[in-house]
Amino acid sequence: VSAPASPPSSPSLPPVILTQDELKKIAAYKAVEYVESGMVLGLGTGSTAKHAVDRIGDLLRQGKLHDIVGIPTSKKTHEQALSLGIPLADLDSHPAIDLAIDGADEVDPHLNLVKGRGGSLLREKMVEGACRKFVVIVDESKLVKHLGGSGLAMPVEIVPFCWKFTANRLQNLFQDAGCVAKLRTCGANGEPYVTDNRNYIVDLYFKEDIGDLKAASDAILHLAGVVEHGMFLDMATTVIVAGELGITVKNK
Ligand code: 5RP
Repeated sequence: VSAPASPPSSPSLPPVILTQDELKKIAAYKAVEYVESGMVLGLGTGSTAKHAVDRIGDLLRQGKLHDIVGIPTSKKTHEQALSLGIPLADLDSHPAIDLAIDGADEVDPHLNLVKGRGGSLLREKMVEGACRKFVVIVDESKLVKHLGGSGLAMPVEIVPFCWKFTANRLQNLFQDAGCVAKLRTCGANGEPYVTDNRNYIVDLYFKEDIGDLKAASDAILHLAGVVEHGMFLDMATTVIVAGELGITVKNK
């Protein structure tokens, strides 16, 4: 389904070029149209999901939505939702979620995703794995032919204990695909990036196609020391893509 992302510009005016953040916001607002009063909602993490959470907060404040319960996928989203007055809970009290809305780093033609460049992949996978409908919101730069083929990071959350050992094992798993595993760091001194779950993240970079994604997923999860990876296979039910030519809604 395609619709203009913004009203058509008048013939006498130059076309409006939207920024990437404006496209993210358009996708996010479109996704919030799926939200109904009384729903338990998975609240995603990242710059695109942030627009959706802001929008939900606005609609609650305006009285256009009510009786919403949000299940945040990160401490950051928890803070944002709290500041907007969105009632919050967790998976322990609400194990069944009606709808989750979140961004992604890559989306392939089968609606498989890479997530976690923002570091929240474990909680995202737990929450989004428990929802009836998972709506992914992206700008068109996130569309790829093959996951991992963009040359950008495929994140894996690992326990800090002997992280080099686990990073080497991950790299060796995908030797044929020219994989390089790098510990994610932050700050001026390059300290390890620590997730909300007090784990580390190893980013995998591939020179060649990873091949069978399910086999790759199983192999990664089989390694002791790995907590979760950022491939979200067969989880998205809808992907909303905002591009210069309009919005595309892809359904599973
Ligand atoms: C965080 C994520 C984000 O959804 C993903 O990184 C996309 O982020 P953004 O919307 O900022 O482009 O998976 O762990």
